[in-house]
Amino acid sequence: MRIGVLTGGGDAPGLNAAIRGVARRAFQRGFQVTGIKNGWAGVLGAGDLEELTPASVRGILPLGGTILGTSRTNPLKNPGGVEPAIALLRANQVDGLVAIGGDDTLSVAAAMSDASYPVVGVPKTIDNDLSVTQFCIGFDTAVGVVVEALDRLHTTASAHHRVMVVEVMGRDTGWVAMVGGLAGGADMIIIPEFEAKLEGVVDHLHRRRAEGKDFSIIVVAEGVRMLALEPAMAVAAAAEKRDAFGHVRLAKQGVGDALSNRIEEATGFETRVTVLGHLQRGGSPSPVDRIWATRLGVAATDLLAAGKAGMIPIRQDGQIDVVPLRDVIAETRRVPRELYELQQVFG
Ligand code: F6P
Repeated sequence: MRIGVLTGGGDAPGLNAAIRGVARRAFQRGFQVTGIKNGWAGVLGAGDLEELTPASVRGILPLGGTILGTSRTNPLKNPGGVEPAIALLRANQVDGLVAIGGDDTLSVAAAMSDASYPVVGVPKTIDNDLSVTQFCIGFDTAVGVVVEALDRLHTTASAHHRVMVVEVMGRDTGWVAMVGGLAGGADMIIIPEFEAKLEGVVDHLHRRRAEGKDFSIIVVAEGVRMLALEPAMAVAAAAEKRDAFGHVRLAKQGVGDALSNRIEEATGFETRVTVLGHLQRGGSPSPVDRIWATRLGVAATDLLAAGKAGMIPIRQDGQIDVVPLRDVIAETRRVPRELYELQQVFG
């Protein structure tokens, strides 16, 4: 048997651990492995495939990024949809594919499975917004970056008695903001799931000053929209440039910058903004990301070997479970009210 493996969408720490898990299990079973370069771009046109050997996956466990490269290419936008990709894989004797990705990558994988090509998935996204699974590769490491940043920002905020606004990634959900903010001791966390108003932010800051707390740390998720900030945000410009899956570049909207300016105007408190951006996606994966990426990569190879196509291994209650690929992309998983209320205890 020959299996293919690709990484699609935004990179995330732990992708290489998953590739290694897929490949090492395949070699153990006597399979051959084809690496597909740059996500779905690697199965278009003449294709961009490379043979993976034990040597090619050696030493990659601690590496960030992905040795295969990635892209946001969407074959479903091309004439023929996934059929040319399937034809290319078949022509290269690739019997089944492991697609490591988030909702976009896995939606293409599900379409290939619907077209009767054997595909399994591995859940990956620092946004942590896939349904059903309690683990997505990269989220734990991204949260670690936010926590380290908040620890550092606390000391400088305190020294200068400033308000620090910290913009973090997460697309349309607030997982990175909420979990990173809770672990890093932010005193306000603003996420797309729950409406926040500028007046509420200003009241919060005045209350803290009145209580003798002369600095504040506010975490805001990049996908937050606040009516009072709209004039200052580049919402229209960001919407013009969408990727192949239709997503706008939320960082371009500049919610952190807009919020920080409006806070300073409204309160007179000295305010600074830090946009963590791609620092959250770079660097070495955390132990949690390494271990679960490894477990899920191995499980994905086992699924293909067992002929269980159209499925994805996930984490459920500390164990590996297997569900249909379509289940994890059925809806965007959002931060529950319980966590939102928890952070209000620490305002
Ligand atoms: O989906 C992961 C993510 O990092 C989002 O949090 C963010 O909005 C987006 O990707 C950024 O994408 P790009 O790297 O293409 O700018």
